[in-house]
Amino acid sequence: MSKPLSLGFGLGLRPVYYKDLLETRPNVDWLEIITENYLVPGGRPIAMLERIRADYPIVMHGVSMSLASTDPLDFDYLKALKKLAERIEPRWISDHLCWTGVHGVNMHDLLPVPYTFEALQHVVDRINRVQDFLGRKIAIENASTYVTFQESEMDEWTFVREMAERADCWLLVDVNNIYVSAFNHGFDERQFVDAIPAERVVQLHLAGHSDAGTHKIDTHDQPICADVWKLYERVCRQFGEVSTMIERDDNFPPFHELVAELDRARSIYAAVVHSREETAA
Ligand SMILES: [Fe+2]
Repeated sequence: MSKPLSLGFGLGLRPVYYKDLLETRPNVDWLEIITENYLVPGGRPIAMLERIRADYPIVMHGVSMSLASTDPLDFDYLKALKKLAERIEPRWISDHLCWTGVHGVNMHDLLPVPYTFEALQHVVDRINRVQDFLGRKIAIENASTYVTFQESEMDEWTFVREMAERADCWLLVDVNNIYVSAFNHGFDERQFVDAIPAERVVQLHLAGHSDAGTHKIDTHDQPICADVWKLYERVCRQFGEVSTMIERDDNFPPFHELVAELDRARSIYAAVVHSREETAA
């Protein structure tokens, strides 16, 4: 299966922006939904999504697969997700490299994974089962993390690369998450980017975070910072043309400000392409 073509530059679809999207027809190429917000078959959210999807390509991004948990996979959730996908026809479906609970307790958080060979095999097996059930490849995102495990036997980027190769899945690379985790754990974010196989990357996330001094927190409530823009430039050079979007989940700015932020991503990507053409000429 070849990699899906780039959709261009998109935004996370959030209810606060429904009206702006429908009324202003901004320069936004595609939208990402949070899967869990649309799993109820009736009501306003799905009605709005039906309207919006008539004009924009949609991708589905979930937070509940809990791929690294030792609890059984939740097939009620996966059935509901599959049903939504049949209705919405997303370009692809993604979730995170994480676990969200164990022993039936949902922590509603994206929890970190020990980077061991045992965990790698466990996650790969579960991605395979999900992909078989859905009948399609899924994309897996690198989460931001705040602790590491002494038991880890490899770097995060080695785990992510091995996972993608062994499960034959796509990757969703969150540039801000790389930056946040690199700061929190003291690794070089460029090393992460350089290790990721470009042919598997179908999507990029950009977002802002909070700075707590000793650590950074992936809060999606700030504009994208200068260092993340700089890392995005490197990502563009490394991965080429990839569907890119901004996640904003709190402290929502006026819609036009978010669209302007997306234009900055467009400009950075265009400058990378331009400099490549200059070098090739
Ligand atoms: Fe993300």
